[in-house]
Amino acid sequence: MSTYVVVGLQFGDEGKGKITDVLSAKSDYVVRYQGGDNAGHTVYVGENKFVLHLLPSGVLQSRGKCFIANGVVVNPKSFLREIGQIEEKGLNTDHVFISRRAHVIMPYHILLDTYREEELVGENQIGTTKKGIGPCYEDKIARVGIRMIDLLNPEVLADKIRTNLKVKNSLFEKYFNKPTLSFDVIYNECLELGEKLKDRIVDTELELNQALHDGKNILFEGAQALMLDIDFGTYPYVTSSSPSTGGVCTGAGVPPTALQNLIGVAKAYCTRVGNGPFPTELHDDLGEQIRKIGHEFGATTGRPRRTGWLDLVALKHACMINGINHLVITKLDVLSGIENLKIATQYKTEDGKLIDYFTSSTTKLYKYEPVYKELPGWTEDITKARSYEDLPDNAQKYIEFIEDYLGISVYLVSVGPERSQNIIRKEIF
Ligand code: GDP
Ligand code: IMO
Ligand code: MG
Repeated sequence: MSTYVVVGLQFGDEGKGKITDVLSAKSDYVVRYQGGDNAGHTVYVGENKFVLHLLPSGVLQSRGKCFIANGVVVNPKSFLREIGQIEEKGLNTDHVFISRRAHVIMPYHILLDTYREEELVGENQIGTTKKGIGPCYEDKIARVGIRMIDLLNPEVLADKIRTNLKVKNSLFEKYFNKPTLSFDVIYNECLELGEKLKDRIVDTELELNQALHDGKNILFEGAQALMLDIDFGTYPYVTSSSPSTGGVCTGAGVPPTALQNLIGVAKAYCTRVGNGPFPTELHDDLGEQIRKIGHEFGATTGRPRRTGWLDLVALKHACMINGINHLVITKLDVLSGIENLKIATQYKTEDGKLIDYFTSSTTKLYKYEPVYKELPGWTEDITKARSYEDLPDNAQKYIEFIEDYLGISVYLVSVGPERSQNIIRKEIF
């Protein structure tokens, strides 16, 4: 048995999709365990670009099955749209299944997410993807959620939709001053979706545990990232799930003892979409240059991503919470041509104290100033490098500085978006 978990260590969009795609070639199962279609995982295969929101990125080349496990919140319409897009490109999707226990994102979740964001002003906005993620998880925890299995039981479904609409419609009408939703429309739509999906709705946790027992290779694909984690991120500017390695256990129903290779993915710099503190953010031409060269625009919402220097204080926090034992550094190619590179190694607090740990106080974080180590850059195009020795000395030093600080080896350096643009320093599969 070998298990692999791929998680994001920054604010999302580190290139998890690309790495999952690479690793999925040898996996028997590729499993999403949290989040929903707020994710946007881009995979380039030759000329073809795939952006996966809900489907595991393994769908493109896994020889086994792809699971959307219980911890994911599923918008069935997005799921079917994505399945359609993949099939249009000539790929088979018969190996994709959804957990019976996964919660369904309902139309009222999307509206609630949207109305709430509209109500907030400026920096108070979280800048969500407006996919209904937060409100769906709220209902799950409040024990009023609708699960995939409910789509297959008309009586239970009717009862649950009716109960939910009483509260939601009252909110829409009385608080948000918006139109109410019709029971008939939602109910009939859900029945139709259930009918279309019924052969894909299974007990994923049973099969995954059998697969563990049978010694299969299982790859868990995280969405979002640790700095967006509901507990350990920059609360409240976070998503509503646990994108950490810990989230795998509750999100897929596998025991902690089953998790072996914990792979953390970080960009060679840092980006963030949406609001919230970002200590190493660049507000100058260099930030714009990185955005342009790195094509830093959201894969789900198209919003420009905020860009900045690599932040090792935050990265250390992310590695600690996740227990990372293999690092992946992506987009090193984007830094080519920048004369002086900076990496944050400490924060200076308001009263001048130097610290190297991440704070739980989001308000304080806005006031902290990063302390940088400067490293010389390189000018060579590194997109064709395939072995570590192909990298210029300064690029190697950049990677080794990260390793030394974190005490974790970088096992893969990504130097371009294509499947083959990798330097693998040691095989872990
Ligand atoms: P994810 O959400 O973590 O899967 O990341 P996204 O797909 O949202 O964003 C990463 C973007 O960077 C995608 O457009 C990838 O194709 C691209 N990408 C991934 N690795 C590299 C790399 O090493 N170099 C470059 N230039 N682009 C990369
Ligand atoms: P991947 O998997 C980057 C951000 C949103 C917002 C916050 C909350 O592609 O890395 P939500 O809709 O989840 O309630 O929004 O989280 N966010 C992401 N940022 N990458 C993602 O996913 C994200 N998913 C959510 O921009 O700031
Ligand atoms: Mg993304």
